[in-house]
Amino acid sequence: MKKRLVLFVFVLLATWTLAGCGGGGSSNAETAAVAPRGQNVSSGNVEEGKTLFAGTCSACHGPDGKGVTGLGKDLTTSIFVMERTDAEVLAFLKTGRPASDPLNTTGVDMPPKGGNPALDDTKLMDIIAYLRELEK
Ligand code: HEC
Repeated sequence: MKKRLVLFVFVLLATWTLAGCGGGGSSNAETAAVAPRGQNVSSGNVEEGKTLFAGTCSACHGPDGKGVTGLGKDLTTSIFVMERTDAEVLAFLKTGRPASDPLNTTGVDMPPKGGNPALDDTKLMDIIAYLRELEK
């Protein structure tokens, strides 16, 4: 009788442990969904991105993304953007590129999130989806 109870508890514990591991694994897989390099399939909303771009980025990059002399670069022909995955562009937008960065070509700051801290990852992904449209 006692042996059976021990076995029952063991099976119960084993089931819980396995269920716990399964849950953790699947949530990791969800966050790791990133487009492979060069494929440029965006998850963001292009229309939202266009509005957000007009509100924050157009001041330096122009309303159509073609750049403003002495401010932001042309994003419609940016090899930098084309060669990067959405995840990489997202990381870039969050850090920007200060004038002191050796990779800076204009001597002008690209501020983190274009200087708008209200742009969270979802909004930045919308903007990236719009940038992909500009590249076409
Ligand atoms: C205050 C002006 C300013 C604002 C606002 C701004 N940028 Fe920029 N951005 C720049 C400058 C200047 C550069 C070029 C930096 C350099 O010389 O490398 C740049 C570079 C970039 C690049 C890299 C282009 C390349 O080919 O190297 C991307 C992408 C970019 N900006 C996207 C954005 C987006 C998206 C927004 C809005 C969220 C934004 N920028 C807002 C000034 C700005």
